[in-house]
Amino acid sequence: MLIAQISDTHIGAPGRDDLLRTSWHLARAVAHLNRRERRPDLVVITGDLVDHGEVGEYEHLRELLAPLRMPVFLLPGNHDDRHNLRRAFADHAYLQREGPYLNYVVDDWPVRLVALDTLVPGQPGGRLCDGQLAWLADRLAEAPARPTVIAMHHPPFSSGVAVLDAFGLAGSDALAAVLRRHPQVERVLCGHLHRPIVRRFAGTVACTCPSTAHQVALDLPPADRLAFVMEPPACMLHLWLGEEEGTITHLSPIADERPLWVMHDGEGWVRGSRPPAGFHPT
Ligand SMILES: [Fe+2]
Repeated sequence: MLIAQISDTHIGAPGRDDLLRTSWHLARAVAHLNRRERRPDLVVITGDLVDHGEVGEYEHLRELLAPLRMPVFLLPGNHDDRHNLRRAFADHAYLQREGPYLNYVVDDWPVRLVALDTLVPGQPGGRLCDGQLAWLADRLAEAPARPTVIAMHHPPFSSGVAVLDAFGLAGSDALAAVLRRHPQVERVLCGHLHRPIVRRFAGTVACTCPSTAHQVALDLPPADRLAFVMEPPACMLHLWLGEEEGTITHLSPIADERPLWVMHDGEGWVRGSRPPAGFHPT
């Protein structure tokens, strides 16, 4: 099973000044995912789907996601609005019509996907309350033998980028306590930081996915600014190889298709081949 993760698409309303060209970047990400020879079974977008939580932005997001050839699962980030997200994606059955949170389980593939809603309206930081953590513990307890991936917007760890860490996740210690009791959790997939980061967390592996558009400059201490940089965007591909080998995570840069110089054709080494035309980018 292959799970593709993209994040922080930050789509604006059509016609609005798109300084960061987020719509163009998402269209490119969709084309990138559709072109994978091994097609992902599903795509999860880990929050900050749109920029201001407006209905017109979600409708624009729908249009941009329409060409995707695989199911897509959405969850909110701090730039989102639950009500408008539900309204614009009313046909997405996993998004409950009512209730304070958009937590859900996707149980249709070998790896279970559990989405957690960390949005606190009007706040850049996130939160998991006791009720959500109890819900998570129940979901994990009901299927202890099923490999599980948790997806949520705010990462439950500090990044070292000081300004971003000021907008972290309340409830991360309690989340860690739940995860330690449930070793079937293969990954905790997050967004928010607009950078690829991987670390050990509560007996599992937690990571953040780059944005499909703008990245946060890697300013490690003692720097304490927050700046965007147009580093190459990327998606993450989480490949489940089965009980024995578990999950492998690949970072896949989103770029125009480049020609391949084949070294081995699966049966033997290809002798004397030369780089194809266009192999060296100009
Ligand atoms: Fe974001």
